[in-house]
Amino acid sequence: MEMEGKVLVGTYARNPVVISSGKGCKLYDPEGREYLDCTSGIAVNALGHGDTDWVKAVVEQANLLTHVSNVFYSVPQVELARLLVACSFADRVFFSNSGTEANEAAIKFARKYQRFTNPDEKQQATEFISFSNSFHGRTMGALALTSKENYRFPFEPVMPGVNFLEYGDVQAATELIKSGRIAAVFVEPIQGEGGIYSATKEFLQSLRSACDDAGSLLVFDEVQCGLGRTGYLWAHEAYGVVPDIMTLAKPLAGGLPIGASLVSEKVAAAIKYGDHGSTFAGGPLVCNAAIAVLDKISKPDFLASVSKKGEYFKELIMHKLGGNSHVREVRGFGLIIGIELDVSASPLIDACRDSGLLILTAGKGNVVRLVPPLIISEQELERAAEIMLECLPALDKTN
Ligand SMILES: Cc1ncc(COP(=O)(O)O)c(C=O)c1O
Repeated sequence: MEMEGKVLVGTYARNPVVISSGKGCKLYDPEGREYLDCTSGIAVNALGHGDTDWVKAVVEQANLLTHVSNVFYSVPQVELARLLVACSFADRVFFSNSGTEANEAAIKFARKYQRFTNPDEKQQATEFISFSNSFHGRTMGALALTSKENYRFPFEPVMPGVNFLEYGDVQAATELIKSGRIAAVFVEPIQGEGGIYSATKEFLQSLRSACDDAGSLLVFDEVQCGLGRTGYLWAHEAYGVVPDIMTLAKPLAGGLPIGASLVSEKVAAAIKYGDHGSTFAGGPLVCNAAIAVLDKISKPDFLASVSKKGEYFKELIMHKLGGNSHVREVRGFGLIIGIELDVSASPLIDACRDSGLLILTAGKGNVVRLVPPLIISEQELERAAEIMLECLPALDKTN
C-alpha cells in the first residue's frame, strides 16, 4: 500500500485492503482474511472468481493463441459476435476494450450514420442527448456524455454538442429530438454509477418514437446493467424497447478487458473499412473467455435464478434495513440494488468491510450499491444483509 502511493498516479481512493485471490463469491487478502464480494469488481465478475469453465476457456486459448490483431481473421471473435447477434436485437458487433471505448464507437457510428444517411443536408445532425446522473466513461467523447461536472470540468474542452436533460423528462427530450440536430440519444435503462435509477417504460418508449420520427439513433448503454444483471439478458427487455446501438463491457469477458457496440444493420451500413479500429479489440483470448461467460449467462434458468435471488435480496434488505431512519429508499431489480441513505454511505461501507463484506457506493456517495456476482447463493445474500444490518449503527457514530 505504501509503495502504491509512491509509484502510481493517484487517481484512485482505494479501500485499505489488498486482494490476492478469490473463489466464487469470496475474496481473500494475503493473510487469508475472507471477504464476501458484493462488488463483483464493479459489476464485472458475474460468474464470481475462478469459474472453472471460464478458467478452462482462458487457459486453453492462451495455450493456442492470445493475440493476433485485426489484420487477420480469428475464430473466437467471429463466434462471439455470432452469439451476441443471435441473442440480441443486433445484426453486427464492433469490439473494443472497455465501456468507455464501446461508447466512443457508438458516438462515431452515430455521427457517421447521420452523414451517410443525409449526405446533402447542410446542417448535419451532430449533437447528442444525455441525462442527469448518467455515466458513460472517462475518455473525451464518453466523458462529454457523463453528467457529473467534477469528472468533466478539469478536462474541458471535451467533445462539444452534448445536451443534458433530466432523466425521465419525456417532454424535453421529445422537443429537442424534434429539432433535427440530434445524432443520437444515449441512455442507461438503469443508471448504475448515478445511483441505481431505473427508467420508466414510457420514457424509453417516447425516446424510441421521437428518435424514429426525427432520424436520430437511440443508444442504450448497458455496460453496467446488461448481460443478466437485471435477470433479463438485456435490461431493455424489461421495457420492451429496442435500441439502434447497445454498448456492453464489464461482465462480458468475465474479468478480462472487453467492450462491444452492438448495432442494427442500418447503422453498420454507414461504416466502412478504416472508419474505426483497435489493436487489441476482439482478441482470441478475451473472446474465448466471453463465449464461456455468455454461454452461461444467457441460459433461461440462469437468468430466472438471478431474478429470484434479486427479489429475495431486495425483500431481505427492506425487511432488515428498511426500518432504519437513515434508509430513504431501496431501488433496482435483479442483482443491481441501491439503498439510498440520508447520509454518506462511507461509514457503512467501511464497517461492512471490517466485518468481511465488500460493497460499493453510487450516486452522490449516499447510495449503497449492491452488485454481487450473479452466481451468489441465497445463503450468501442472507449473510450480506445480516452484516449490513449489524453495521448500520456506524451511520450514527460518524455522521
Ligand atoms: C453505464 C456505464 N457506461 C460506461 C462505463 C465505462 O466503462 P469502463 O470503465 O470500462 O470504461 C461504465 C463504468 O462504470 C458504466 O457504468
